[in-house]
Amino acid sequence: MVEAMAKKIILDCDPGHDDAIAMLLAHGNPEIELLAVTTVVGNQTLEKVTRNALSVARIANITGVPFAAGCHRPLIRDIEVAPDIHGDSGLDGPVLPEPVIALDSRHAVDLIIDTIMSHEPGTVTLVPTAGLTNIALAVRKEPRIAERVKEVVLMGGGYHVGNWSAVAEFNIKIDPEAAHIVFNERWPLTMVGLDLTHQALATPEVVERITKVGTKPAKFVLELLEFFSRMYKNAQGFDYAPVHDPCAVAYVIDPSVMTVRKVPVDIELTGTLTLGMTVADFRAPPPADCHTQVAVDLDHKRFWDLIVDALERIGDVEP
Ligand code: BDR
Ligand code: CA
Repeated sequence: MVEAMAKKIILDCDPGHDDAIAMLLAHGNPEIELLAVTTVVGNQTLEKVTRNALSVARIANITGVPFAAGCHRPLIRDIEVAPDIHGDSGLDGPVLPEPVIALDSRHAVDLIIDTIMSHEPGTVTLVPTAGLTNIALAVRKEPRIAERVKEVVLMGGGYHVGNWSAVAEFNIKIDPEAAHIVFNERWPLTMVGLDLTHQALATPEVVERITKVGTKPAKFVLELLEFFSRMYKNAQGFDYAPVHDPCAVAYVIDPSVMTVRKVPVDIELTGTLTLGMTVADFRAPPPADCHTQVAVDLDHKRFWDLIVDALERIGDVEP
């Protein structure tokens, strides 16, 4: 039997409770080959999210994967972080171990470019789960990556709902100019936005399933979810936390875990009330050259099956 080729991804993130779970899913799923993890200012400062990423690597025993720090601020706007959701550290809740792996000496933008350019065309998927500053700079610095990547599958935006304003989502709103660059490149782009991720709720049944895994990484996820759910309840009135970022990884693993719809999407840059809105034009069938699609409906059970399976495969790592 010929084994299917693993799907190669670069995870560009700002851990972040849900980013941390996205890392674990990417590491624990046999269909994913994690080529690099890059960090960017977002949920907290660059320094904090980078340290968090390295701590998560230790918790899940992720070795042999380069980690690089990227942009410390958005392209134009001032830094906006999210302590109301992720706490002062960016990953409040669990006690984080000291990192044991060292950062790659390259800037994240260069690691992204080097990784894409050194792999066969059409084989690397970019999975941004944070503000799009690194990705925008990478494609400006090396435009050839736009034809070279397989696709971009990002968590961000929402076609009918916002969370950082009435109509804008955090990852897009904190660096709308970067998002504008990324959405207007011609690469195939899947927006896994709030419309989808608000279905990825960490319900009591989900918590029970993760509890049964019984390993240290699973306990870490439970502590993340406990804090995350409490913050989402207080800040946005959710009964259970929506676990956004792993949805983008899940789509790469198995696109059939969600439905998608092809539609042109652009980023609002001038609206006084709508800055950072991901404007999707559903008025007509999409034009033939439409390169964007949005995620619509999630298969909740199969999504959490993937997370539980990844945790079972990661097993009981000794940090
Ligand atoms: C997004 O914002 C961040 O707080 C989360 O990590 C996720 O990437 C959800 O709006
Ligand atoms: Ca994130």
